[in-house]
Amino acid sequence: MARFSSYVAKQANADGFIRYTDEEHARWQTLMQRQYEVLPRYAAPVYLEALERLQIPQDHIPQCAEVSARLLESSGWRVVPVPALIDFAGFFEMLANRQFPAASFIRSAQEMDYLEEPDIFHEILGHAPLLSDPEYASFVQAYGAAGCRAKPEQRVWLARLFWFTVEFGLIQTDAGIRAFGAGIVSSRQELVYSVVDPGVERRTFDVIDILRTPYYIDILQPIYYVLESLDQLFELTQRDLIPLIKTARTLGLEALPCDRRRA
Ligand SMILES: [Fe+2]
Repeated sequence: MARFSSYVAKQANADGFIRYTDEEHARWQTLMQRQYEVLPRYAAPVYLEALERLQIPQDHIPQCAEVSARLLESSGWRVVPVPALIDFAGFFEMLANRQFPAASFIRSAQEMDYLEEPDIFHEILGHAPLLSDPEYASFVQAYGAAGCRAKPEQRVWLARLFWFTVEFGLIQTDAGIRAFGAGIVSSRQELVYSVVDPGVERRTFDVIDILRTPYYIDILQPIYYVLESLDQLFELTQRDLIPLIKTARTLGLEALPCDRRRA
């Protein structure tokens, strides 16, 4: 989560409607076109099926209410516009209540591939589709509930689990490793890089290992974790994450991985 934003949040009107300019809708269309050129090849089938289910418009920025209507049917989740970056406590509480906080602005033309903070394109194309998958959705809710129970000093450890799964997770498929994390599937550059780059370290999914692994928010990830299936996330809903954090803290953080700046 970035500490400073150069973007201004879009305010909803009394009906909850957020107005975007023609230029912003055109930027969305360009972003969708760029991403749809690479998604079928590099994104996981489970994500692509969820994307199909959600029927996200390609020619204009959808309202969160439209997306929520489809999510509510399949998993009881909603995407809720938030005015700006929110703190850990607010974030966890929303997830625990099946509400995904969505930044409302859209990135500038200068940051089409990646920006350090979430925008509406990342939230809707990246996060919303898999929230329609009941098992995945249960994991995100359980994660939020764990965050609500965690002490402030435990939350930064918990954040790594979200980072390496929901944001930057990879998964084994019949066709090989593919991406499902929101940060990857909403970035054209990282979607290709994470799946094919020979210099990337792709580790077997291990919760304690994940909790102990630092990450960067401003570079292409040097390390990803690969799930065998989304069942592994669902299995975590049956476990108490707090003792896992305590174990990870006892073992300590790993050294920072090597630095790969974005091109
Ligand atoms: Fe995100």
